[in-house]
Amino acid sequence: MNTEPSYAELYHKVKDLENQTTRIAGDAVEKVNKCEAKYQAILDTVDAHLTLIDRNFTVIWANRNARKLFGENIVGKNCHEACQGSNNPCGVTKCIVRDAFRSGIVQRHEAEMTDQQGRRRFFSGAAHVVRRGSNGEATAVVKVYNDITEQKKTEYELKQSMLQLRKNLAGTIQAMAMTVETRDPYTAGHQRRTSDIARNIARQMKLSRQEVDGIRMAGVIHDLGKICVPAEILSKPGKIGATEFSLIQNHPQTGYDILKGIEFNWPVAEIVRQHHERIDGSGYPFGLKGEQIRIEAKIIGVADVIEAMSSHRPYRPSLGINKAFSEIMTNSGTLYDADVVNATVDLFSRRKFDFH
Ligand SMILES: [Fe+2]
Repeated sequence: MNTEPSYAELYHKVKDLENQTTRIAGDAVEKVNKCEAKYQAILDTVDAHLTLIDRNFTVIWANRNARKLFGENIVGKNCHEACQGSNNPCGVTKCIVRDAFRSGIVQRHEAEMTDQQGRRRFFSGAAHVVRRGSNGEATAVVKVYNDITEQKKTEYELKQSMLQLRKNLAGTIQAMAMTVETRDPYTAGHQRRTSDIARNIARQMKLSRQEVDGIRMAGVIHDLGKICVPAEILSKPGKIGATEFSLIQNHPQTGYDILKGIEFNWPVAEIVRQHHERIDGSGYPFGLKGEQIRIEAKIIGVADVIEAMSSHRPYRPSLGINKAFSEIMTNSGTLYDADVVNATVDLFSRRKFDFH
């Protein structure tokens, strides 16, 4: 009995198999598509813009935000063409994709890019390898960027308004300095020169930038309180009496009273009040000693002596810079802080500082 299937039966079996294979493949494709659609939908909802880049720097996939920003036709373009609007690849040192291919991951990267309207925008992001070939070689990198343009704009505006405030403050300080110097022409320029010396001593002592800034500001107006001393006493030739001297001695406190309400980044009013204090307690207005006196006031105190002694005064000619140095060196550790004196000597002798 012949049990072999007929051609007709074979034909139907092959057809059945074909249909089955097509159905299985169809199901598989549908499942893969559903899966991809699911991930695509998820990645489309994130705020960041994501792009997948291959070894040739070609964008092979982009989420909705990336397409919105750089154009629906971003896929298939080179990444520098898509994100930088340039036909030339990015420089070796600033290409995050190249770096990611080389090291596997790049974190915290900031970049400037051009959107599809040609506007420059700022981004912060990272990149890492997400695909590797059978030999382990990286074949695709994902770039994840957040748009920080608005944040950068706010930072810039804040910086500009800070600069403007500083400019206004500098103008106000300058006006104050001029007010006191107009009444006392013999000491015109004394505050600026004292401030210059003090600022350089502070730098020599490696004080912080903020401290140097505070010293510069306080130096320019350290004699502001003299505004309350009668002009005839300030410009009086010859020796002055005890009463007149006590009026002059009020100027650090008066300066403090004028400045205490102004908000500086540094205690300018307090520095001004202490600039005639001496470390052995013989200064005024409080007779503070050693560590009770702020370093900024000690520095301005020494700079004040150097400038005053080497300049002309209504009651005497200039005593000369050598006499001024002799004064601070002789009294180093008693009237003047030894570290400040050493820094001042270093400044003038080694760095050939000149304040006139
Ligand atoms: Fe003074």
